[in-house]
Amino acid sequence: MQSIHASAPAKLILCGEHAVVYGRPAIAVPLSDLRASAAVTPADLGCGLSFHAPDLGGAWSEDENPTDPLCELAQMTLQQFGRHPANLRVSLRSMIPIASGMGSGAAIGTALVRALAAYAGYEPTPAEVSALVYASEQRFHGTPSGIDNTVIAYEQAIWYLRGDPPTIAPLRVGEPLQLVIGDTGIRSATRLPVAAVRERWQADQPTFERFFDLIADLVVRARAALAAGEAIVLGALLDENQHLLEQIGVSSPELNRLVNAARTAGALGAKLSGAGWGGVMFALATPDTGERVGRALSAAGAKRVLHTTVTAS
Ligand code: MEV
Repeated sequence: MQSIHASAPAKLILCGEHAVVYGRPAIAVPLSDLRASAAVTPADLGCGLSFHAPDLGGAWSEDENPTDPLCELAQMTLQQFGRHPANLRVSLRSMIPIASGMGSGAAIGTALVRALAAYAGYEPTPAEVSALVYASEQRFHGTPSGIDNTVIAYEQAIWYLRGDPPTIAPLRVGEPLQLVIGDTGIRSATRLPVAAVRERWQADQPTFERFFDLIADLVVRARAALAAGEAIVLGALLDENQHLLEQIGVSSPELNRLVNAARTAGALGAKLSGAGWGGVMFALATPDTGERVGRALSAAGAKRVLHTTVTAS
């Protein structure tokens, strides 16, 4: 039997990160050009599961590392689709920088679930894929809001509100958005800033609830601006969100430097994206300013600059 391949995109949170963990809405988009992929190939009887992931630091097997999160996700997926135990060689690749705020973990998990479901002859819904990856994300992050696995599994721009079940609404995007992403090159595991915000929230709930309410309010306005294609309004809201994320304590000098460089180069707005303390920021540009903003980000120290367009929908 031949290998079965599947892939999944990176993601970018446009606004609302962190507050989304506390029940406020957030907006996220998939980055379809930047992907993780999984290939599963049947192996000899008795081999169990073996993983080969050059971009993730190597190779391991079910026997050696049964509690590895990807191994557990694979077992959970195979069990759900009636093919456990299985003898498979799993190859994982990812173009998405790890621990950068772009959902690399959720994208690898989603690609894995899709490939294993295809191996089991089952076509899962985005909700089924998302639920499996969410269960796995809980092991990494403690209190994930579920936005990463959702936007990646649905692969469309979404409005997301945590809940049981969460509210997931497709977003209307009135005009294409030109985004320029700058990577600080600093890797930051999501769970660390998320845990720090929780500690600060516990120490001063009134202040942090107020921050989260202010973020929720700007996310609502961002949804309207997105739908109406009002890029200037949206840019100002992104700046407002960045200011609040700085107050919450999840930005960093490197992120601030890139954000300021993008604004000086003519971006309509710029902010960090994801958990912060490192990883990526993005700027909202126009067809005229995109190249200049990209150059400014490189000059300000971005280790990688990506240009992407969110299409109208
Ligand atoms: C991480 O991509 C986004 C955070 O809001 C955490 C989460 O939603 O689980 C920081």
